[in-house]
Amino acid sequence: MRLGVRQKLVLLSLLIVVVVSFTFTAVQLDLTRTWREEDLRDRAVIFAREIAATIGDHHELESHALIDRKIHQIMAVRPSVLQLDIVRLPPGGGAVVATSEPTHRLPFTTGDEAAVRNGVVISRLLTDAGGRSWEVMAPIQLDGAVAGAVAARFSLNRFDAREARSRTLALWLTAVSVLVMGSLMTLAVHGVVNRPIERFVRAMRGAEAEPVAVTSNDEFGVMAGRFNDMIARARERLFAMQRDLSHAERLALSGRIVAEVAHEVGTPLHSVMGHLELLREDLPAAAVSETIERRLRVIESQLGRLREIIDRLLDLTRRSPQPAVPVDVTGLVQETVELVRPALTAARLELSVEADPALPRLLAQRSELQQVVLNLLTNALDATPPGGAIRVATRARGSEVEIEVTDTGCGIPGPELKRVFDPFVTTKDPERGTGLGLFICAQIVHGHGGRIDVASEEGRGSAFRVLLPVDRVAVHQAAHS
Ligand SMILES: Nc1ncnc2c1ncn2[C@@H]1O[C@H](COP(=O)(O)OP(=O)(O)OP(=O)(O)O)[C@@H](O)[C@H]1O
Ligand SMILES: [Mg+2]
Repeated sequence: MRLGVRQKLVLLSLLIVVVVSFTFTAVQLDLTRTWREEDLRDRAVIFAREIAATIGDHHELESHALIDRKIHQIMAVRPSVLQLDIVRLPPGGGAVVATSEPTHRLPFTTGDEAAVRNGVVISRLLTDAGGRSWEVMAPIQLDGAVAGAVAARFSLNRFDAREARSRTLALWLTAVSVLVMGSLMTLAVHGVVNRPIERFVRAMRGAEAEPVAVTSNDEFGVMAGRFNDMIARARERLFAMQRDLSHAERLALSGRIVAEVAHEVGTPLHSVMGHLELLREDLPAAAVSETIERRLRVIESQLGRLREIIDRLLDLTRRSPQPAVPVDVTGLVQETVELVRPALTAARLELSVEADPALPRLLAQRSELQQVVLNLLTNALDATPPGGAIRVATRARGSEVEIEVTDTGCGIPGPELKRVFDPFVTTKDPERGTGLGLFICAQIVHGHGGRIDVASEEGRGSAFRVLLPVDRVAVHQAAHS
């Protein structure tokens, strides 16, 4: 089973809470129990001392009847006293005067009696079949000397029973508090960790990573900010790369045009060379003076050079066509728009997209269609001053799919409008434009069996419209490739 960050955090914190809570509860219970036991021992000692103090003289200590009555009176009101012995301690050895348990003597040794004779109070905790109990022995002082002792045994059974109940209660309370803390922690982790992570995952899930909403200034907020910066930078770089790529493509096209020109020039050149050879054969030897021979050789050698150049140009290889695949035009347009967005934002242009999500798929060369959209967007970007707007729309038009790019830029003057799809028509600096963008667009669109047209008004803006047929099965190789 794969645990998420949230589960791991909650489980780990719960484990810590369980261990810490139960350890502290156990330690606290043990301490309380020790303190209470000591308290009970002190009370037992005080009780024994009080009894000892009630015996006023030797006569009373030696009177079995008096002492026995006293013992029975005390036992009647103190149920926690299990046994009470009054002992005389003459120098020879101790003797019980009276006891509440005639059959059983409290297990004090002669050593204990010796200690009590010296005025010490003995106390010890005993455990037997009847439970736990405190046994104490306190001296009876008469006329300034120890004459006897009070030995008593106090039951801890009630205390132990209460202790067991409060221990169970404390453990239950700890368990409930762990549960409550666990639930609250789950909620807190959900709010603090899960939600930001879900936002990240949502943002990364799409084909194109989208910016993450920054709602806090904690580590997740910082991460979201950095992530958004990274996406923006990646898009900028991608756009620059695409632009460079299409520029390289245009240069390659120039090469191909040159190759076609070379092919066209090659045919008349061959014919001229053939005729030159025939001319040389037809000329009578007498007519070929030294000067004419020299001139013919110059013509032949220059024509030979020309043929070499032409042959080399013709060696330029042709690009192999890409396979046609079903293309989601709306997705492609949105993807391309995201590519250009950072450049549009930097140029302070407003961009709106009206993409029809239900467009049918086209069988097309995806990268070529993307080049068309990119070219149109780049032209709009170049033509529109800051504050202007660019709108991209896709829609179904009968059996065709339409892509429209409109801008509020400088527009194209009437006479230029007819020539914008011709090669090498440009109003841009050589390093910014080759004048091949729209020419390539037209070639690609025609290669896909579609049309491209433009409506423009000088000073108000332009609208380029590409219409591509849906029911096309085979894609012809674009004319320029
Ligand atoms: N949206 C537009 N608004 C105004 N003029 C435009 C627009 N699109 C194209 N043009 C004009 O048409 C010319 C030809 O565009 P084209 O895309 O073929 O070449 P380019 O943009 O100049 O160079 P590149 O080869 O880099 O694309 C541009 O130089 C520009 O004058
Ligand atoms: Mg262009």
